[in-house]
Amino acid sequence: MDATPAKEENPVWAETQEALLSLGYRANQLTSIKKELEPQTELTVQQMIPTSPFVCWQNRRKEGNGLEERTLDANVQDADSFESTLRPASLDAYIGQNELKENLRVFIHAAKARSEALDHVLLYGPPGLGKTTLAYILANEMNGNLKTASGPSIEKSGDLAAILSTLEAGDVLFIDEIHRLPKQVEEVLYPAMEDYCLDIVVGKDSATTHSIRLDLPPFTLVGATTRAGDLSAPLRDRFGIVSQLEYYGLEDLEKIVARTGRVMQTEIEEDAVREVALRSRGTPRIANRLFRRVRDFAQVYNEGVISLDVAKDALDRLKVDELGLDSVDHKYLKGIIERFKGGPVGLEALASSIGEEASTIEDVYEPYLLQIGFINRTPRGRLATAKAYEHLHIAYQQDLFE
Ligand SMILES: Nc1ncnc2c1ncn2[C@@H]1O[C@H](COP(=O)(O)OP(=O)(O)OP(=O)(O)O)[C@@H](O)[C@H]1O
Ligand SMILES: [Mg+2]
Repeated sequence: MDATPAKEENPVWAETQEALLSLGYRANQLTSIKKELEPQTELTVQQMIPTSPFVCWQNRRKEGNGLEERTLDANVQDADSFESTLRPASLDAYIGQNELKENLRVFIHAAKARSEALDHVLLYGPPGLGKTTLAYILANEMNGNLKTASGPSIEKSGDLAAILSTLEAGDVLFIDEIHRLPKQVEEVLYPAMEDYCLDIVVGKDSATTHSIRLDLPPFTLVGATTRAGDLSAPLRDRFGIVSQLEYYGLEDLEKIVARTGRVMQTEIEEDAVREVALRSRGTPRIANRLFRRVRDFAQVYNEGVISLDVAKDALDRLKVDELGLDSVDHKYLKGIIERFKGGPVGLEALASSIGEEASTIEDVYEPYLLQIGFINRTPRGRLATAKAYEHLHIAYQQDLFE
């Protein structure tokens, strides 16, 4: 806990200081903010608060970790440079998800025509389908900046307030894994989404407690989640646009793989494009990852050209089968079939029997297996279907009591 700061002479600074403390700034940060801002006597509280993160940012090296670090994190782009090189930058370059894309086009056009910010957008769906990519595209298309943060990294309401107070009109704030925002942080988000404002409560006792309202510029919140079901109803209801991303069809995946070949300046033959696409389990991120590995094999064995043979050989060695299932999918299906007689088996029991995290199984593996009809989710647990048995070359025995 920080020591209570000495009584302030300047009432504007005193109020600002209280607000910053309730936003989670530390005493040593306040000292440096004060040095910069207090002499600017013309500033109001409402102007000082949003300026403070910048002061902290400038002093970041001297001060070490803290709120300003995380605020800065919000600007850090994807660490994986391979992914960011391959991210399409406009809606036109974004392949597939046609219905969603056309809707977004209309909303963007309308918002621009009215000179308003785009309505808040919630994107949900399994990992690697292009949610983050879409957030970047929305910022580009709206000519705004993108600030990114993730649910679990925003620990207290002050962190969110600090991020929000750095937004400019038309900016897009992208919050990944938004279902993991702490409850009290969510509450700061509601008025920000609805009325573009922040209410900062200051004062220690009921006699002095009051709130400072900070107007925010019109901005767009883009939330992404792999678990729409875990989002609280009040948060979900505040998004004007709610869209599910779907697994990509073969044709779209082929376009994505071919595009990756062009971007990476790697020659890939048409039937090899198809082979990589087929084994990407409907997911652009996997398509790109497989492409990268296949390219390594092509470099070593085929002078850099990705032919069908090279692609097949590489994918077999990577243990990705012709439906795109990898060793974990196999372990999962065999787990149900061999250890639990085909199910039904509860998620936790299955997860621990194969040594994987239940949440990873639920978010990453099951959605695709459900999509291709290899498993069923019943109230009593997971069941492997005849299709799964067939794929694994195991004789299917219907449970007589089913
Ligand atoms: N529609 C698309 N067209 C072309 N490439 C795409 C498309 N969608 C995604 N990609 C590629 O797939 C990669 C992964 O996409 P992205 O990071 O946006 O997924 P995500 O849905 O945010 O995943 P996660 O849930 O794991 O955060 C991107 O780097 C991009 O290269
Ligand atoms: Mg993402």
